[in-house]
Amino acid sequence: MRRALPRRALAAALAGLAAPAMAQPAEGGLARLAAARGVLFGTAVNAQWLREDPDLVRTVLAECGLVVPGLELKWEGCRPGPDSFDFRRADEVVAFAAANRLALRGHTLVWHEALPRWFPASPSAAELRTLLARHVATLGRRYAGRLRSWDVVNEPVEPWDRRPDGLRDSVFLRALGPGYVAEALKMAAEADPAARLVVNDYALELPLPQHEARRRAILELLNRLVRQGAPVHALGIQAHVAAGEAPIDPEVLRRFIRAVASLGLEVEVTELDVGCRLLPADIPARDAAVARTYAELLGAVLAEPAVKLVCCWGLSDRDSWLNTTRFTRRPDGLPVRAHPYDEAWRPKPAREAIARALAAAPVRA
Ligand code: XIL
Repeated sequence: MRRALPRRALAAALAGLAAPAMAQPAEGGLARLAAARGVLFGTAVNAQWLREDPDLVRTVLAECGLVVPGLELKWEGCRPGPDSFDFRRADEVVAFAAANRLALRGHTLVWHEALPRWFPASPSAAELRTLLARHVATLGRRYAGRLRSWDVVNEPVEPWDRRPDGLRDSVFLRALGPGYVAEALKMAAEADPAARLVVNDYALELPLPQHEARRRAILELLNRLVRQGAPVHALGIQAHVAAGEAPIDPEVLRRFIRAVASLGLEVEVTELDVGCRLLPADIPARDAAVARTYAELLGAVLAEPAVKLVCCWGLSDRDSWLNTTRFTRRPDGLPVRAHPYDEAWRPKPAREAIARALAAAPVRA
C-alpha cells in the first residue's frame, strides 16, 4: 500500500509551487527546447537543496522537465537498518516533482557504493537475495507508476577486476553470481511494471582504451540480458566527463549508442557533468573548454534517436559533488566549474552550449 506523503514533503512541494518565476530564458528554458525535440531534460536534486535553496528551485522549475533524487533512494539514503526504511527525504523530492509536474528517475536499487554501515560485508546468497528482494519490492512498489525510469543496477562493469565477463567484483556478484543483474531487473519489473529499467554505468564516452573495454563489457552484459529475456529497457550513460581528458569522438560514441539501440534498448544520459580538474585555473578559459565539451558530447549523443533523456548531475557549481572526491576535485583546490550555472546561479557558457545542442537535435518520434 502506498502511504500518504508526509507533511514536510507537502510543504516542500508547496514552497516549490509558490516560488516566484525566474526571468525566463529567451527560449523558454532547456526542458522546453528539449521537449520540442522529443527529449526529456532535467537534473539531480536532493531534498535539502529543495528546502534550503530558492534559487535552485527557481532554476529547476525554469529549466527542467525531470528530476532525480541524487541521494535519497540509495540504500544509505533510505535504509537506516536491516528491517527499516525511511522515505521521508525521498518523498520530499517525489512530492516536489508531482507538485510541479516534473518527470522522475529512480536512482538506484543495486550499487556497490552508498551501502549503509550495517550492510553485510560477505553475505550468503540466501541472505543477500532475501535482503535485495525486500528492498527492491518495497522501493519499487512505493513509487510504482511515478518513475519514468529506475536505475536498477548501477556500475555493474569493471574490466580492471579481470573477470572474463567484464563484471565488477562487487558484494552482489560475489554472493549471487553474475545472474544478480537479471535477478534484480526481474524483481524491479514485478514491483514497478511501468518504469523503464536501466543499467547505468560510467566511463563509456571517450575514445580511450579503458572506456573501450568498458563499452565492450556493457554491450556483452546487455546482449546476455536481452538474450535471456531479462526486463531491461535502457542503458544509462552517466557522462561524468572531464574537459581535456580526451576529445569526444562522435563516431565512436554514436556507434556505441547504435549498438545498444540495435538490441532494442533506449539510451539515457543520466548524470551529465563536465569536470575541469585537468584545466588551468583561468575562469573564462575553463568555462569555454567546459562548454565546448558539453557541445561535443551532446552533439554526438543527441544525433542518435535512441537518446530521449538527458539528465545533469546538478545544475550549478554551488553544490558540485565533483569537489568531494579525490578523483574529480581539482589538484589546486579551486572549486570546479563543471555545471551549466555558476555558484551564484548565473548561467555560464555551458548552459548556452546545452541550449544550442538541444535546439540542433533532430526531432524524435
Ligand atoms: C554522488 C552524489 O552526487 C554525492 O552527493 C554523493 O556523496 C556520492 O554520490 N555516480 C553515481 C551517483 O551513480 O550516484 C554519484 O552521486 C556520482 C557518481
